[in-house]
Amino acid sequence: MPRVFVTRELPGDLFAALRADVDFELEIWPGDFPPPQDDLLERVRGVDGIVCLITDRIDEAVLEAAGPQLRVVSQMAVGVDNVDVAACTARGIAVGNTPGVLTETTADLVWALILATARRVVESAAFVERGDWRTWGPLLMAGVDVHDRTLGIVGFGAIGQAVARRAQGFGMRTLYWNRTPRPERAAELGAQLRRLDQLLAESDFVSLNVALNEETRHLIDAEALAKMLPHAILINTARGPIVEESALIEALRAGTIGGAGLDVTEVEPVDPASPLLRMDNVIVLPHIGSASLATRAKMADIAVANLRAALADQPLPHRVN
Ligand code: DGY
Repeated sequence: MPRVFVTRELPGDLFAALRADVDFELEIWPGDFPPPQDDLLERVRGVDGIVCLITDRIDEAVLEAAGPQLRVVSQMAVGVDNVDVAACTARGIAVGNTPGVLTETTADLVWALILATARRVVESAAFVERGDWRTWGPLLMAGVDVHDRTLGIVGFGAIGQAVARRAQGFGMRTLYWNRTPRPERAAELGAQLRRLDQLLAESDFVSLNVALNEETRHLIDAEALAKMLPHAILINTARGPIVEESALIEALRAGTIGGAGLDVTEVEPVDPASPLLRMDNVIVLPHIGSASLATRAKMADIAVANLRAALADQPLPHRVN
């Protein structure tokens, strides 16, 4: 009987079915926090499959602790930067992820951040909640327009394209940068290709939609930030380390960019003492890009489907290696 360790309780019908399946020996880490690394090393011993989240570090030590029978690491996320994929591949372990189902949900959150930062929504709500609202004023909480302005999309994969599609409704000029140009999709979405430095220099809003890897780590560093317009707003719903956070804090302090909407930070959870949390022109969210009930259930379903396929020696619906 296959043994499986799941690093957190998951939503979705397929997970409920897996739980009830007498042909699996399932151990689920309880509670709302990830297993500490020592517990993870202990719990994976002898398992055939691991179902994990972005909060779990699945490295060589975990694979070694699991043992040679481990066949699949099934991650409930599209990004797998917490998994040592090369080490899995070297050991013949399949790595599954959950692309597709979270594209539109994540693009929605990009737009929530664009609109909320531009129109000072969070700051305004806090102002009202504090009881500071005394009268209407000509410039009270005046922000910047979104419609008719220029959006630069860094990374023109599925999520970047979904962001571009929404920009059409706002009558925006859309620019994109991608390692591989996507002329057909760009033509359909009215997006123009730019070099990264050009995109940064021309955009009122910059949305980061690339995966994290060694090429994109600190892609937005001090030099890149210096190219942005002084009123431009940086939106990051991808991965925190794509932005050099200390440089971002400096740029925001110096006013060389206009603001930031961050669903991800270099270290998660963000340090409550981070200066980012004290800046009115910055919104920080707790990595909720794909967090709609429906999407999270679909992601869990795919993670279970990937697990079951691998353990049945079938091709995974979504395999990254
Ligand atoms: C992902 O899927 O990679 C997100 O960051 C979590 O949904």
